[in-house]
Amino acid sequence: MPSRGRTQRPPAPRSRRRPVDDGDSVSEAEIAVHWKEEEPVGPPADLAASLGPSERALRARFARLGFPECFRVYADLLTWEQPWTRTLDDSRPPFYRWFVGGRLNASFNCIDRHARRFPDRAAFRFVPEPPDEPVVTVTYRSLQRRVEETASFLRERAGVRMGDRVTIHLPMTPELPVTMLACARIGAVHSVVFAGFSGEACGRRIADSGSRVLVTMDAFWRNGRLLDHRPAAELAIATAAQDGQSVDHVLVWERYPGRYSSRTPPVTGRDALLPDALLEFAGRRVPPEPMPSEAPLFLMYTSGTTGRPKGVQHGTGGYLSYTAGTTRTVLDLHPEDVYWCLADIGWITGHSYIVYGPLALGATSVLYEGVPTFPDSGRPWRIAEALNVNVFHTSPTAIRLLRKLGPAEPERYRFRFRILATVGEPIEPQTWRWYYEAVGKRSAAVVDTWWQTETGGILCSTLPGLDAMKPGSTGPPLPGIDPAILDDRGVEVPDGSGRAGNLVLRTPWPGLMQTIWNDPDRFVSTYFARYNTDPKSRDWRRWPYFSGDGATRTADGYLRILGRIDDVINVAGHRLGTKEIESACLSVPDVAEAAVIPEADEVKGRVPVVYVSLRPGVSDPIRVTRDIADAIETQIGKIAQPKEVWVVPEMPKTRSGKIMRRVLSAISNRRDVGDVTTLADPAVVEEIRRLVQGAGAGPVRSRPSDPPRKRTGPR
Ligand code: WTA
Repeated sequence: MPSRGRTQRPPAPRSRRRPVDDGDSVSEAEIAVHWKEEEPVGPPADLAASLGPSERALRARFARLGFPECFRVYADLLTWEQPWTRTLDDSRPPFYRWFVGGRLNASFNCIDRHARRFPDRAAFRFVPEPPDEPVVTVTYRSLQRRVEETASFLRERAGVRMGDRVTIHLPMTPELPVTMLACARIGAVHSVVFAGFSGEACGRRIADSGSRVLVTMDAFWRNGRLLDHRPAAELAIATAAQDGQSVDHVLVWERYPGRYSSRTPPVTGRDALLPDALLEFAGRRVPPEPMPSEAPLFLMYTSGTTGRPKGVQHGTGGYLSYTAGTTRTVLDLHPEDVYWCLADIGWITGHSYIVYGPLALGATSVLYEGVPTFPDSGRPWRIAEALNVNVFHTSPTAIRLLRKLGPAEPERYRFRFRILATVGEPIEPQTWRWYYEAVGKRSAAVVDTWWQTETGGILCSTLPGLDAMKPGSTGPPLPGIDPAILDDRGVEVPDGSGRAGNLVLRTPWPGLMQTIWNDPDRFVSTYFARYNTDPKSRDWRRWPYFSGDGATRTADGYLRILGRIDDVINVAGHRLGTKEIESACLSVPDVAEAAVIPEADEVKGRVPVVYVSLRPGVSDPIRVTRDIADAIETQIGKIAQPKEVWVVPEMPKTRSGKIMRRVLSAISNRRDVGDVTTLADPAVVEEIRRLVQGAGAGPVRSRPSDPPRKRTGPR
């Protein structure tokens, strides 16, 4: 477990550090890596013995078909209304079209074809957070009925047409996948905003996507409290209106049907309360729209290097093929399994590996409303035991937390996992071992899956039962995926060199996003310009995909992901842009300058820490730190709440006036700040170091993670 002051990323040795004026981040490509390679752990024997010939031959099959035809293997898992004529159209890189000429409907593939064959199989087992509320089973047949009724409402009442965007701000209840699939059924593009994002954050996404329809819920359970979710919708609508986008229809699902649980009254003429409003559509059939393979299926906003989140656009045929294929190969999911992914559907993991992948395969998933540690850290294991979960999927942050709060808890329950998946952040070997030994009882395969919102599905992971696992390494690339590690000049870092570099993907794959919504230039510049040498080139070989992650690769081809090299902080496996947080800080009038840096955290991996300098004459810096915490919560959400807000007399800056975030990060993480003699005012660094690391005396400090409102004075 990393202790305070140690990061998961090894520090750069002194001699290789970049000169200070060069910029504010150290390039991963220049960092020598001194991590100890772990001994491989063989694949579990039972699992290895249970694999059939087609599973064993997967890599060989991909190799035989070659790129791009190998991806037909995944597309063949789907039912196509009209078969495609060309696997890949790569005539306009980096804009690719997969399975061209094909037509299909995602909701048909996820529901109807299973509902026909086994109508009574559970698609979802919904577990409400309050432990005394019964588990609700949603069969494939009932899922189809609910999706069709919702789809007819969207179309007939809310006027949603093919290609329209619908913003969904729903918690983890069955209404979320129902609404997503209802959009997919009529060819509308859903944009799900994580329910933990603030109303303002939701409103900005409504405006960017141009949604006229918002789908929300009155309330939901979180950590033992029924949270009123409606104020967020009002804020979202007001924020979108300021940005010039009006919302004409609001669909409000009731957490308890017929019992409205919010203090905000519905607005007549604009709001509809569901499921009551669906009564007139009871039993209504809505045939699935056969969509072109490349029709957009959804947008998922994600943080990047600028303050504005970008709408990652995923298509239908390529995305669905890739998620179905990787759900089968990596999670080894089959219809008879009971699968539980603890991620929230509001993030990409939930889209790909709760909704689209598992449903495309006709599997049964647990859908859990609340936090895993409510009411105690035995909850996940009780649920697993009660519902016979055998494929489990979560994040290193959740594993660390469950281990910290109840290290011996899994032993008390009789569950048996076959596959244990982890995603979202690097998992350190100690945490990996607890997952494998205590949770997996040494008989489950751990798959450490590396991928991103933009990649649609998993790109690197060991294959369960086939590959040896190495704690701390994601493993080899999946079949058809071709990663490379490049240095800053674009030269490949050799495997086994121990050096880190920028992780790129050399070939496209069907899960790759199509573009950034409304901003194709940003798509090209963010992900492809870095290593493209000829912007006019029509050859995909000239357009490697730049992931933004640093990585190393051992001689046996296993990749170890070191983390983001851009201005993204991975907090508890959730991506936050430092620039977004900084712009929230700067909205507080007394703040002159703000810098946000990641600090290593025992449970969450990284947490944001804020440094600000104030305008002259501010008399109450404590109030300012509270205002900053409030601004971050309202503009982004609680997940972005900083661990600390430091008010410094002056920011450390280069002579050209650039804030040295790297120096601040070294101070917060108790690393060597390096040579700072070339800074505009080197003495500032020591002053800040004493403030942050010193005995607590001196200027102002605030810890908003202790409820900010209660703080009255400096510590
Ligand atoms: C990080 C989540 C190490 C990485 C699916 C990536 C990981 C970012 C892993 C994407 C892993 C994801 N090991 N790091 N197994 N999986 N990451 O878009 O930095 O929310 O770039 O997608 O999470 O986060 P996103």
